[in-house]
Amino acid sequence: MTSTRTTHLPSDFVWGVATSAYQIEGGIDQDGRGASIWDTFAHTPGKTRHGDDGDVACDHRNRWREDVDLLAALGVGGYRLSLAWPRLQPTGRGPLTESAVAWYRELLEALIAKGIRPFVTLYHWDLPQALEAEGGWTNRATTMAFAEYTAMVAEQLGDLVSDWITVNEPWCSAFLGYGIGVHAPGRTSMRDFVAAAHHLNLAHGLAVHAIRAATPHARVGVTNIVADLVPNDPATDQDAVARLDAVNHQLFLAPVFSAEYPPLVRALLDPHGLSDVVQEGDLDLISAPTDFVGINHYQQVIVSNDPKGGIARVQERPAGTAHTSFGWSITPESLTRVLRRIHDRYTNLPIYVTENGASFTDYVRPDGTVADPERVEYLAGYISGIDDAVADGVNVRGYFAWSFLDNYEWAEGYDKRFGLVFVDFGTQTRIPKQSAHFYSELISSHRGVEPAGSAAVLTR
Ligand code: FCB
Repeated sequence: MTSTRTTHLPSDFVWGVATSAYQIEGGIDQDGRGASIWDTFAHTPGKTRHGDDGDVACDHRNRWREDVDLLAALGVGGYRLSLAWPRLQPTGRGPLTESAVAWYRELLEALIAKGIRPFVTLYHWDLPQALEAEGGWTNRATTMAFAEYTAMVAEQLGDLVSDWITVNEPWCSAFLGYGIGVHAPGRTSMRDFVAAAHHLNLAHGLAVHAIRAATPHARVGVTNIVADLVPNDPATDQDAVARLDAVNHQLFLAPVFSAEYPPLVRALLDPHGLSDVVQEGDLDLISAPTDFVGINHYQQVIVSNDPKGGIARVQERPAGTAHTSFGWSITPESLTRVLRRIHDRYTNLPIYVTENGASFTDYVRPDGTVADPERVEYLAGYISGIDDAVADGVNVRGYFAWSFLDNYEWAEGYDKRFGLVFVDFGTQTRIPKQSAHFYSELISSHRGVEPAGSAAVLTR
């Protein structure tokens, strides 16, 4: 078995897996669910690979009991899921839908009954379409709608949730969705990117206040995606790294942890309207104290100056480097560097790696099993990378592998399989991959006990 270093990880380290609502739930006609920007985007010809959408996805809305059994069989201590905003509140305003609240309560209760701690994300990209029609995240009113939604959710589910994540990867929502349009809602404007970024930050801050008011004992944090930015030429490309870091990372981390948009962020983005959308008091709201930091990490990115005067040029990986089917580099030391940087530069709050994982071309062998030795290697490497960071004094408290199940990978549709559990999307059969067995054994050996679940489910 591939060796994995875990000796520095605390005994109560949370070993988890992660998913998000639109990527797994399906059930778009159930609970009176409204449309989200992802329904609209995926149903627009040419926007996603093969025109794939999340109408059915993993049919988790109907198969959730089986999925909770699988989670228990894996032996995970934590499960990061997101709530579908348009399922709970079809238009993003008005009361929550009773059947949706009832379902999420059942799901959360089932997880807790199996000893699995839910980490619940409030916003993982499925904005109600009705709010997008009013401007979406470029409209400040969306932040108020999110705060009201969050208050009701915390009121009705707060007794079952001790760990909340307000927003998942605001950079992706703002930049991919509003800046370059490769994600929903598909807008392409720098001004829209900048407005959406600030409003997502503000939505986070308002949600922290709403959660604290409803459930004072809950823990709350925000999850950001942080890449390992490496200069192509250390002699000439450090400025390009600094600029990309400002726009991809500092724009989201500095207001939360330092109550500011730093000078370089201002210099680069005020010309695109940042100063127009920031109102007095916003930074105080955004920097409301949080309890932990969520970090998603997937890539090393090689950065150079853009001869055309743009912020920077990026290359996904140096030629010849090992990579996933997405083309993302496999460089476990990148995660160590990212974790150190968060600790050194922003905060010593506990860090959870709320996503990390790899897509490969997995398939079912004639004997019915799925072998994914590359993913086993990947997990072993990145988890060892966390151990190195902890050995250096970084306070990392948990790891959530992306993903529990193969699922709908946004604009890439169903081609990119990230799951520890294989999903046959024709039959909805789930088959734990070799990596699921590896992870399960790792968890039990770290705990020094047998896996919590029944081996029968994992080995069928
Ligand atoms: C992250 C997203 C997650 C998943 C992974 C591969 O950026 O948060 O939903 O798509 O990438």
